[in-house]
Amino acid sequence: MPLKEEVEAGTSASHVPRFRLYDRKPPPPDMASEVLRGLRAPRKSIAPKFFYDAAGSALFDAITRLPEYYLTRTEVGILHDHCAAVARHVEANACLVEYGSGSSVKVRILLDACVPTAYVPVDISKDHLAQSARAVFDDYPALSVYPTCADYTGPFELPPPVHALPRLAFFPGSSIGNFDPAAADDFLATVRRLVGPGGHLVIGVDTKKDSGMLIPAYNDAAGVTARFNRNLLRHINTAVGADFDATAFDHRAVYNADAGRVEMYLDAKRDQVVYINGEQIAFARGEALHTENSYKYAPDEFVAKAQRAGLECVDVYQDRQGYFMVLLLCASGLELP
Ligand code: AVJ
Repeated sequence: MPLKEEVEAGTSASHVPRFRLYDRKPPPPDMASEVLRGLRAPRKSIAPKFFYDAAGSALFDAITRLPEYYLTRTEVGILHDHCAAVARHVEANACLVEYGSGSSVKVRILLDACVPTAYVPVDISKDHLAQSARAVFDDYPALSVYPTCADYTGPFELPPPVHALPRLAFFPGSSIGNFDPAAADDFLATVRRLVGPGGHLVIGVDTKKDSGMLIPAYNDAAGVTARFNRNLLRHINTAVGADFDATAFDHRAVYNADAGRVEMYLDAKRDQVVYINGEQIAFARGEALHTENSYKYAPDEFVAKAQRAGLECVDVYQDRQGYFMVLLLCASGLELP
């Protein structure tokens, strides 16, 4: 039996390494031009992917522990309660592919229950990915771990060692909520292609509910979400060279029931001009900068949406109060456009 280090380094000729990072070299976003495009528009916006610098990621972590932010703890409870049911449906010898793996915390519930052969965490942030994947590898001695640095919103190539394995995709956290409905359809279709006919997807989705519960989840009493929202401006200041005064903006969260989404804004407290990359952007007092949409779905609505993307519903798992859902979907064999 070769040492773990030997296997990992690929020194044992007859064995494929059991830990290896695959860098698919996702093109770095041109943040300056993307941000400026959103700020030149008549209704100003900045994409929520720019929330997550080091400070933003730490603030989001704090959000997941807030009393008002029911999503994370409810999803973790559902995963614990129903991971055995998921395990009964998925094939043995599977490869578990996690989209946007971050710290690889929730996936451990599925790793314990489903005991896959390989784990492929996919994330755009290479250093954090490598670290978190290494921690999983250390904790699961029988598991092959192939972190893949890629932009998971588009297609990417899986590591060759897992090509022949049946596939189980995992997309927790209601991250699908950040996609507009059409982009969510495209994403689901991309996942269907990746897992292939008979492959599965476990996806966590937040449900539609009373705005009296939704709004505090995005506007907590301790003001952590407000700091998270304002930190976006600080991130832009350092990353693209801007002079936003983050204290000159108010955090606001609203539930747009017609669109089925929570919307977050930063409202200018006064008239002001911001310099970004040498360009002037004027804000009028009260003008809104849109920073995030977080779509919510009724269970039937999401099941129908998945079906249109070629993903059949195997099961919908929920907490007693229906605050959140985890769906187990299976890719149909039908060729879809
Ligand atoms: C990471 C997109 C699922 O929409 O609930 C939390 C982000 N924004 N509080 C969400 C978020 C404000 C979160 N997602």
